[in-house]
Amino acid sequence: MTLGNEIYNKLEQLSSCSSGNPGVTRLSLSPEHQQALALLEQWMQEAGLETYRDYIGNLIGSYHVSPNKKTLMLGSHQDTVVMGGKYDGALGVVLPIVCARQAIEQGNLGCNLKIVAFTDEEGVRFQTTYLGSMALNGHLDPALMERTDKNGCSLRQAVIDFGGDPQKALNPAETQSPDAYLEIHIEQGPVLEEADLPVGVVTSIQSSYRYEVIIEGTAGHAGTVPMHLRRDPMTSAARIISQLTALCQSYQPLVLTVGELSVTPGAVNVIPSKVRFTIDIRSPKEENILNAMQQAEKIMTQVCAQNHTTFRLIRSNAIPATVCDPHIVDKIKQAVSQSELRVFELASGAGHDAQEMNRVCPVGMLFVRCKEGISHSPYEQVNAEDIDCAAKTVLNFIKSYC
Ligand code: HGY
Ligand code: MN
Ligand code: MN
Repeated sequence: MTLGNEIYNKLEQLSSCSSGNPGVTRLSLSPEHQQALALLEQWMQEAGLETYRDYIGNLIGSYHVSPNKKTLMLGSHQDTVVMGGKYDGALGVVLPIVCARQAIEQGNLGCNLKIVAFTDEEGVRFQTTYLGSMALNGHLDPALMERTDKNGCSLRQAVIDFGGDPQKALNPAETQSPDAYLEIHIEQGPVLEEADLPVGVVTSIQSSYRYEVIIEGTAGHAGTVPMHLRRDPMTSAARIISQLTALCQSYQPLVLTVGELSVTPGAVNVIPSKVRFTIDIRSPKEENILNAMQQAEKIMTQVCAQNHTTFRLIRSNAIPATVCDPHIVDKIKQAVSQSELRVFELASGAGHDAQEMNRVCPVGMLFVRCKEGISHSPYEQVNAEDIDCAAKTVLNFIKSYC
C-alpha cells in the first residue's frame, strides 16, 4: 500500500467522527472532537510519537532526537465547518503522522519532530479563528473565554466540559517554540487542477477580517403596520448587503461574504426586531479591507438613518497577510523537484494556522490539488495519488530541512 493510500484510508476513518451528514461536521470541543483525538492519538503513538493534550484540546505528538537539534513542527486543524469536507485540516494532521513514522523507521532523523492537531481553526463554533494555534503560542485573549456558541455555551465552559483548563490554557507553562512550521493543506481552489499539478508551493496567505452586524428596529404585526411607519431591520439589512457586494469592485483584489444571517423573533407574520449577519472580508492587501470597511460603515449609517433603524458593527477577527519564509519556501521547492514534480507557486485565498504560527517561527505551506477546487462542502475530494506526491515531498523536505 502506498503512503497516499494509507493516508487516504485513515482520512476516510477520521471522517466518521462527525455529528451528522452530509459531509463532516466536527466542531471544536465537541464529542466528535474527542473521538477524532482518540484516533489521531492512537496513530501518533503507533508512529512512535509521544503524545499529550494541552489545556484547550490541542493534541501534540513529539519525537525527540536531541535538545541540540532543531524542532520542525507540522500540523493543521482537526475541526471542520458545518457539513464540511474530509480533507480541510485533517489532511495536514494525518499526512505528517504517516510521514513521521516513515522518517523514524528510515532512521537518522536529523531534527526533533512535533505534529499538532489544532483544536479549532475555523472559528465556526465561537467565532474565534486560530483558537488552537493561538493558545499553543500563549496568544489567547482572555476575553474569548466569554464567547458563546449557538446554544449559549461559553468557550470557558466548553473547555472545562472537554476536560481542559481555561486558566492554564490562557497561561501555558511553556510554549512549543518550534524552529519552523510546515502545513500541508488542500488548496480549496481550482488553480492546481487548472495547472494539472498534484501539489503547489504557497508563497503568501491573504489578510482576513470578520465582523458581526446587528441591526435593530421595532417588531410589529405584519398585517397592521403600514410600510411608511415601519422600523424594519430586514429592509436595512437587505439594502446594506446588496451595497456591500457592489462595494467590493472598488477595492480589488477583495472578496466579501455574508455567510450567516439570523432574524429575531423569526416568524412569518412578525416584522423583525433584530437582524444579525456576519461579514468575512479578505484581500492580499490589508489596506483594501480597511478602506472598504470604512465605506461599508458609511453605507450602514446612511441606510439605517433612512429606515429609522440602528446598527452595531463588531469586529471579531483581524488577521494580517502572511508572507511564507523564503528559506522554507526554497526547501519546499527543492523537495517538490526531488519528487520529480513541477514546482508551482501560488498564494492562498484561505486562512490557515500558518498565519498564527508565523508570529513565532518561519512558516511554509504545501497545497494539494482538490477536485474542482471545492471545499467547505461534502463534495470536497482529493485522490490518493496526489496525497502520495505530497507525502513524498514532505519526506524530502524533512530530510533536507533537518
Ligand atoms: O476560512 C478559511 O479561510 C479557513 O478555511 N478557515
Ligand atoms: Mn476551512
Ligand atoms: Mn483549513
